[in-house]
Amino acid sequence: MTRIANSAQAQAWNGPVGTHWATHQERYDAMVSGVNDALFAGAAISAGDRVLDVGCGAGATTRIAARLAASGHAVGVDISAPLLDRARAITAAEGVTNAAYELADAQIHPFPRAGYDVVISRGGVMFFADHAAAFRNLAGALRPGGRLAFVCPRPAGPHIEESRALGLFGKLLEGGDGDGEGTDGDIAAAQVAMASLSDPARIREALQGYVDVTVTPVGVDTTWGRDAADAVDFILSRTPGRTVDAGTRAALEDTLRPYETNRGVRLRGAVWLVTARAITKDGEKRPAPRQQ
Ligand SMILES: C[S@@+](CC[C@H](N)C(=O)[O-])C[C@H]1O[C@@H](n2cnc3c(N)ncnc32)[C@H](O)[C@@H]1O
Repeated sequence: MTRIANSAQAQAWNGPVGTHWATHQERYDAMVSGVNDALFAGAAISAGDRVLDVGCGAGATTRIAARLAASGHAVGVDISAPLLDRARAITAAEGVTNAAYELADAQIHPFPRAGYDVVISRGGVMFFADHAAAFRNLAGALRPGGRLAFVCPRPAGPHIEESRALGLFGKLLEGGDGDGEGTDGDIAAAQVAMASLSDPARIREALQGYVDVTVTPVGVDTTWGRDAADAVDFILSRTPGRTVDAGTRAALEDTLRPYETNRGVRLRGAVWLVTARAITKDGEKRPAPRQQ
């Protein structure tokens, strides 16, 4: 039986939030794949590495990691059963044989000690109730000196194109909350957690079992739909049962129209790339490089 510490997140990611991500897996992947180059540059995976992908979702990054670790393997863990079903199905369809998945709450899961050379996460580490405990648990899963690389959102604000556009979008929807997702409890729980590591001081505080911590700002193009109408359909669908009148709908499309390109509706977003190493066997602890 899987032990769960983060029951609110487990509910959200096994409920409407996880189901939406699983149903629209290709679209979500297109939305966030702009961070892949930075993430995998930070992870520096070699052919024989054993890689753990935390909060792997439908496994896009687990499969990339598995291909990079051609003579090693990648394991994706996630708290969401519907997303892991998608991950397993796509992995089988793509014939990736050195990737596997496990339903687990990464904060408390008893990972094999020193069982991994690299831990990665594309936006899967913000949802822990106790970040320090979770990263301590992950440090135990890494071999001494093993690498951690993850991306997580930077603070939202009007200076960031994505949050400016989605903020306007939220205002047009009564009670809007910044990306038009409404106030449903599960959706709100996931959304609040999204921003939990946006302060670099919090990131560093959580990474006590690590050395050589770097926190680097990365700009990223996020793709929301083929055109403004398609993007509005998608964003509205994130809140089950939401309907808007024709005037609001037109105003929502106008909000996104300036960002239509021949590669879809693209908004410039902002993430942190965080890299670190697990403390080595002799407890080596060197001062971390200066914060950005
Ligand atoms: C924003 S999604 C990112 C999914 C995937 N990494 C991607 O880039 O497509 C966050 C993922 O973290 C997972 N998650 C949340 N809390 C978790 C926990 N405590 N342990 C493991 N996975 C968790 C969610 O189920 C979800 O799949």
